[in-house]
Amino acid sequence: RRKSCHPHPPLCCASSPEGSVSKAPGPLRSSLRATSVSKSDVIPAGDITSTPIPEITDVFPELHTHEHIHQFSLDHPEEFWGQLARSRLEWQREFKTVTAHEPEKAIFRWFPDGQLNVSVNCVDRHARHHPDRVALLWEKDEPGQQEPITYRQLKDEMCRLANVLRASGVGKGDRVALYLPVSPLAVASMLACARIGAVHSVVFAGFSAEALASRIQDAGAETVITTDQAVRGGKVIQLKQVVDAAVAKCPSVRQVFVGTRTESQVKMGPKDIALDKALSCEGTECEPAVQDAEDLLFLLYTSGSTGSPKGVAHTSAGYLLYAATTHKHVFDYRDGDVFGCVADVGWITGHSYVVYGPLANGATTVLFESTPTYPNPGRYWETVARLGITHFYCAPTALRLLLRYEDDWVKRYDRSTLRVLGSVGEPLNHEAWHWFNDLVGEKRCTLVDTWWQTETGGIMISPRPSAPGAPVLPALPMRPMFGVKPVLCEPNGGVVEGMGVDGALCVGSVWPGIARTIYGDHKRYVDTYFSPYKGYYFSGDGAHRDQDGYYHITGRMDDVINVTGHRLGTAEVEDAMMEHPDVAEVAVVGFPHEVKGEGVFAFMILKDHTHESTEEIKNDLRKLVRSKIAGYAVPETFLICPGLPKTRSGKIMRRILRKVAANKPGELGDISTLADPTIVQSIIDAYNENR
Ligand code: PRX
Repeated sequence: RRKSCHPHPPLCCASSPEGSVSKAPGPLRSSLRATSVSKSDVIPAGDITSTPIPEITDVFPELHTHEHIHQFSLDHPEEFWGQLARSRLEWQREFKTVTAHEPEKAIFRWFPDGQLNVSVNCVDRHARHHPDRVALLWEKDEPGQQEPITYRQLKDEMCRLANVLRASGVGKGDRVALYLPVSPLAVASMLACARIGAVHSVVFAGFSAEALASRIQDAGAETVITTDQAVRGGKVIQLKQVVDAAVAKCPSVRQVFVGTRTESQVKMGPKDIALDKALSCEGTECEPAVQDAEDLLFLLYTSGSTGSPKGVAHTSAGYLLYAATTHKHVFDYRDGDVFGCVADVGWITGHSYVVYGPLANGATTVLFESTPTYPNPGRYWETVARLGITHFYCAPTALRLLLRYEDDWVKRYDRSTLRVLGSVGEPLNHEAWHWFNDLVGEKRCTLVDTWWQTETGGIMISPRPSAPGAPVLPALPMRPMFGVKPVLCEPNGGVVEGMGVDGALCVGSVWPGIARTIYGDHKRYVDTYFSPYKGYYFSGDGAHRDQDGYYHITGRMDDVINVTGHRLGTAEVEDAMMEHPDVAEVAVVGFPHEVKGEGVFAFMILKDHTHESTEEIKNDLRKLVRSKIAGYAVPETFLICPGLPKTRSGKIMRRILRKVAANKPGELGDISTLADPTIVQSIIDAYNENR
């Protein structure tokens, strides 16, 4: 069916895990021949002669202080965001209306009569003004190997890919599942979808075939883009095989584009299309689809406390504006900076601060494919030195892992380019904050602990932006972003006023980055985020507002746990474990873990007729959870108990299990409402025997 065309260099390609370099020539291969590239070979941000993005005080010169601007953003959201949207985004059709919300239905619309294409904003306008500026700096898994991709190259590759998708019948509103390594191909695929108005659903390439299949099915995706393999931390991951297993369960899928990462021979089936060959048939121009501001940009699946993962839906203009604005003002991004967010593109952090925020601002953004400890615990800082990184944004779990090693792993590398450090995904504890701030940042960088969520689209609470010279305190996100009004609520729904108080962390304003719905289930969106506290968005987290008015996050208030910065619903793990024929009942909770933040702890009751040894059962369960969800979801501990603590109505009292798992049996509180209070002691005994 396909024409045979000129050879095209793959986007995500080149060296095998062993480091051998492929032979095909091409623009994206230029830097791949060297096994190590010296700093002087890297084009940092290229030409930086374009007009820099104005500081917020220049946008609103009549408002003299940060406090005035913040208050203005809350009092006059239409003027505030309207002005930014006009000056910072390129519109196909200018909007006249800034908002058309229907809060009673939890329907939010920003710039509803405006039209823009996200890919034009992220690529074309920069390719026009500074085509040779590096857009992507791909830090490959292979140590010492990097690949710069300019805005011109990114535009060409995005357009080719968009043409391939269009020619294959992918159109506006169609969902495309991406299961890819952190690579230029992943970014080009996201942008190619945006180009033609398709909706991407990136699935983290660590998820199992089953998890991928359920996400493909929920989204009704007909097209999948993947690669032959992935490499991470020196290990090969068989991406195509996982996709094959997933697609076998998804009759909706009609085509799978297979790019190359390692150039290993993979089995191609009737639905599979070699991406490199398809790309070689297409040109580098692609007319962008005309997109309404509220057209869907992407779905991203995330865990809730109940049910299957939900497809959080983000739309085009509001999301992009919020990602770009937070990227500029939280991180104090300036032209010429090299922005290093080491998140995987499969998570929201990767979407907003590897791809959309930085590219909308015309930045040079790093794609980090590896792990913090490969080939050694100096990897991050060696990368900082080699690429001249100015901003380093990562998860606390990586910091907690690295601080266990000798300081020399940090000190031996030049970190003088660093200006801003950032942390996201889980609480940043004092020890990790000081290690990051004092050792890595030499106490001269600004460290921002940023609180936000998949659903918020971008950073909501963070020490910056703030008044010039305002203090940054250790281990708390502190201040709300422009347009964000944090509200603390009590269980009965009332608002907690004043300072030195705790409550459920809600938001009392509508910001442009808020997710618009849960794909295919608006009722679940309303029930989850807007029903618990009437009139407010409920985050699921608890928070403390201290005497100075700064915010501290106290953790999830629901059955979601945070393992190595990855969100996990305990119900998902329970569902997976219940598939084992010998398991009668199970309750999963999180417990404090020194490195991972939280670990997974499973309490279980086995059926009487078990014929396997308990070790065999535990091994089966590990495999089961890995195959149903992902490796990070596998419980650290499986504790076989004689019973679970239930109320008279049969509800498991998880707070008791959390205390047992945290080894705090002295803090159980009132257990008198249990149907059988004596069961608690037998669980504690089982815990002690197991230690
Ligand atoms: O519990 C909060 C925690 O991560 C949750 C959001 O997870 P996810 O949607 O996967 O997005 C992670 C990346 C934005 C929140 O409900 N969380 C996120 N950032 C912080 C945090 N907890 C404490 N401090 C943070 N800075």
